[in-house]
Parts: sequence; C-alpha cells; structure tokens
Amino acid sequence: MQNDIKEVLYSEAQIQAKVKELGDQLSVDFEGRNPLVICVLKGAFIFMSDLVKAISVPLEIDFMAVSSYGQSTQSSGVVKIMKDLDVSVEGRDVLIVEDIIDSGLTLSYLIDVLEHRNAKSVTVVTLFDKPARRTVDLQPDYKGFTLPDEFVVGYGLDFAEKYRNLPYIGILKPHVYEK
Ligand code: XMP
Ligand code: MG
Repeated sequence: MQNDIKEVLYSEAQIQAKVKELGDQLSVDFEGRNPLVICVLKGAFIFMSDLVKAISVPLEIDFMAVSSYGQSTQSSGVVKIMKDLDVSVEGRDVLIVEDIIDSGLTLSYLIDVLEHRNAKSVTVVTLFDKPARRTVDLQPDYKGFTLPDEFVVGYGLDFAEKYRNLPYIGILKPHVYEK
C-alpha cells in the first residue's frame, strides 16, 4: 500500500496538530450551543473521530452518507443521499464535518438540505480544501489544509475504497489509476 504513494503531502503528526487546533477553535466558538456534529461518510470518518475528541463542549453526533463519485476521481455532479440522519436538525446548530471540498457540489447540496429542514445554523469544517476546482461559490467556515489540484488518499480518503487507513495524506502514483 505504501508503495503506491508518490508523495506524502501531510504527515500523521501534521494532521494531528491541525485537528487539535481546529478542535480548540471550535470549542471556543461553540461554547454553550450543544451542536449536532454531522459526519459525511465515508471519507470524513477518521477526521470526525479525531475532531470530536478535540472539542470540549457538549455535542451530539450523527452520520450521513452521500454519493457523487462512484469509482471515478471526477464528480458526477449528481448527489444522492445513501444514508440519512437519524435525528431532526430543526432548531439545531449543525456542524458539518467534511473530509475534502473539491467542486463544492456535495457540500452545497447538503447545506441546502439542512437549511430546508430548518436547522438554526449550518457551519462547515473541512480538513482539506481544493479551491482551484470549485464550480460553486462556497467557502468552508473552518479548514485544515489547502491542497493542490491532485487526487489524494489516506486519513479516510480513498481511491476505489482503498487507502482510507493510511494515517497520513498522499498522492497516488499514476500506475495505480491505470490498473
Ligand atoms: P465535491 O466535488 O462535491 O466532492 O466537492 C467532495 C467529495 O468528493 C470526494 N473527493 C475526493 N476523494 N480524494 C478522495 O479520496 C480526493 O482527492 C477527492 N476529491 C474529492 C470526497 O469524498 C468528498 O467528500
Ligand atoms: Mg471517495
């Protein structure tokens, strides 16, 4: 698995330090608000679990799975809810936890859905951002790292469901795509 990685962009230690920093800031900003923290599956599951441990205010968690990619590395533009939330967001301060924002299509769809369901507020935290590829006008409220226009894997992110368990984030060697 390690042999398929061309370059490590951010090490495990760098990611952990950034997650701690984001958690500290969110703890201050969400003081007294009991947010509903929503993990966007599957990619955000590792970030979510590390992030909530770094947040010190009382919170609740829920999960949502959306699909826009299939086996490809390009967004299809079609977003589908594969697994919906278990609880209502009505009147809640919602914190969406994303792994990566690329075109922004997935997130803008999600924000729309949650606003239509009358969330009190919708805040977005993403660990990674690829602003160069944005097709909709959307900025995360909190972000970890800005990435170049490359397909990355690790720390929850996959290529064809592989590499999610790498503790760092890296770029795949081209031969992996061509298999
Ligand atoms: P959009 O384009 O809707 O995409 O902002 C967001 C979702 O696409 C996936 N994505 C990636 N997954 N490496 C991945 O493993 C990448 O470089 C990458 N770029 C986008 C991801 O699931 C994200 O939630
Ligand atoms: Mg994926």
